[in-house]
Amino acid sequence: MRDSPLALPVVDAELEQRLVGRLARIEELLAEHCQGRTPYVTQAATHLMTAGGKRFRPLLVLLAAEAGPNPEAEEVHTAACVVELTHVASLYHDDVMDEAALRRGADTANARWDNHVAILTGDFLFGKSSELTADLGPDAVRIQAQTFTSLVEGQILETVKPGPGEDPLAHYLEVVAGKTGSLIATSARYGAMFSGATPEVVEALRAYGEIVGSAFQLSDDILDIASESVTSGKTPGTDLREGVPTLPVLMAQASTDPADARLLELLGRPLTDDAEHAEALDLLRRHPAMDEAKAYVLGQTTEAKKQLEALEPGPARTALESFADVVATRSS
Ligand code: IPE
Ligand code: IPE
Ligand code: MG
Ligand code: MG
Repeated sequence: MRDSPLALPVVDAELEQRLVGRLARIEELLAEHCQGRTPYVTQAATHLMTAGGKRFRPLLVLLAAEAGPNPEAEEVHTAACVVELTHVASLYHDDVMDEAALRRGADTANARWDNHVAILTGDFLFGKSSELTADLGPDAVRIQAQTFTSLVEGQILETVKPGPGEDPLAHYLEVVAGKTGSLIATSARYGAMFSGATPEVVEALRAYGEIVGSAFQLSDDILDIASESVTSGKTPGTDLREGVPTLPVLMAQASTDPADARLLELLGRPLTDDAEHAEALDLLRRHPAMDEAKAYVLGQTTEAKKQLEALEPGPARTALESFADVVATRSS
């Protein structure tokens, strides 16, 4: 296996070449779909789209499409644009919610302009995504609408504490499945649907995407603690600062070790003080909860790969297996 220009170690050179070519086409389409009626709108919408990003969701659409007879169908490309436009729109809104300053290594729209611009640009991109979904027919529109509802409900649920007697981990996993799992499940589902895969394969890939999608967010939460902004393009410790509990935090909070008393005191509240924030980040980075969280994610990706048994063995299935592995081991 060698390094690939894609975000995954593709083992089949021919498949890799096809995917690279299709992603380049999707990049052109995405730039077109960010065009507004005035340069101001175009500039605000292009800002995050061109700042980078892993294009994880479009790549998943393309990989899932390999499971059907028509992976090159125009609808597959359209679907890849739909999911990335939806994703980028949600990032504009998320950065307002999280008061984040850095995204994809660039200033967030809220930092560069203000919250109004960020919210309206997010809405503009949701609009563009919906327009494009209409080209895919009523089933796709319904799926897109349901996905959007789940994503937004996940974001809302994150702002609400678990109810009395509710397990905080179960609450968190529900948040994650909504805000991130739903769109990644739809990415895999669209890819399979629009390449003409059988209903069984479409369903298996949807289920795979749902698990991979949640695992992707859990990995992201681990990276929020473990990584530096040069690799993530985001400010580390944003969740901790906002007091948003994530998997490593919830696992650390289950500790009864008296040595963890200071960490547990810090984790119970938002950390606006820089020194306290740095202290909590340092304690958490060295805590066994980090490895425990990584092991949980690894278990989830094993579950995801089981769904792929519905697919014929071959390069596409192998690539989807690698894709799940990358999610568990990613460092950016
Ligand atoms: C960021 O998504 C938000 C999460 C769901 C974790 P990505 O990690 O896919 O962000 P980009 O697209 O690469 O910037
Ligand atoms: C992002 O969640 C989820 C959506 C954009 C829907 P986070 O707030 O955890 O993601 P990052 O860390 O800002 O990318
Ligand atoms: Mg955020
Ligand atoms: Mg957030």
